[in-house]
Amino acid sequence: MRRPERSIIGNWKMNAPEALEAYLEVLAARTDKLPAVAVCPPATLLAQVARTLEGTSIAVGAQDCHPAEQGAFTGDLSAPLVQRAGARLCLLGHSERRQGLGETSELVARKVQAVQRRTMTAVVCVGETLATREAGLAASFTVDQLLSSLPEGAALERLLIAYEPVWAIGTGRSANANEIEEMHGVIRGALVDRFGAPGQGLPILYGGSVTPANIHAIAPIAEVAGCLVGGASLDIAAFAALIEALG
Ligand code: PGA
Repeated sequence: MRRPERSIIGNWKMNAPEALEAYLEVLAARTDKLPAVAVCPPATLLAQVARTLEGTSIAVGAQDCHPAEQGAFTGDLSAPLVQRAGARLCLLGHSERRQGLGETSELVARKVQAVQRRTMTAVVCVGETLATREAGLAASFTVDQLLSSLPEGAALERLLIAYEPVWAIGTGRSANANEIEEMHGVIRGALVDRFGAPGQGLPILYGGSVTPANIHAIAPIAEVAGCLVGGASLDIAAFAALIEALG
């Protein structure tokens, strides 16, 4: 099996790094090709960050978008609008949106279509809650969520999966290497069942309390094609250390 290219995506959520200009300067100075690096700022900073990073190896992404191309949706942003602001990828189905805002997998699948229609990359996030894990249902829940979040005809070359157990997000308690290995294996199996051989090459990122302290346990796991990083991506020293560890 071809090892997918590694990626690291910083998800700033509803935050901005303290010294934004200095943060972007460090990223812009980067010359290495791998891992592929992206940052997902809040929508109001998207255009500024994209402009500053133009011509560098760093991609800029949105944290969400609406499934419609345009229309009367007060407060929402379409895939064409975030693309126009400079986004080349879009996070979709993050647990903070599924849990906090009641987003369904069916809605996530429509958003994937909207993003891919614009030839942007969709990063589809899946993962179980602690209660689901403790009930022994982590694998079946995550596979169901994954498969129903992927639309018919998804463009695999513009799709990344992020396994993010809800209990590990923002808690300081990352999943351990065994848990990650097992769940990435389960997700890989589901992708191959759904897409056949091309499902083998789809990158599966891990997310959930990834820090410079645990990256060295996570990075060597064969099925980990990179990381989706929240809190630690706001600190440029921490984020740079993660980039280096995945290189
Ligand atoms: P965290 O967030 O790294 O702060 O746990 C990860 C994410 O929500 O993508």
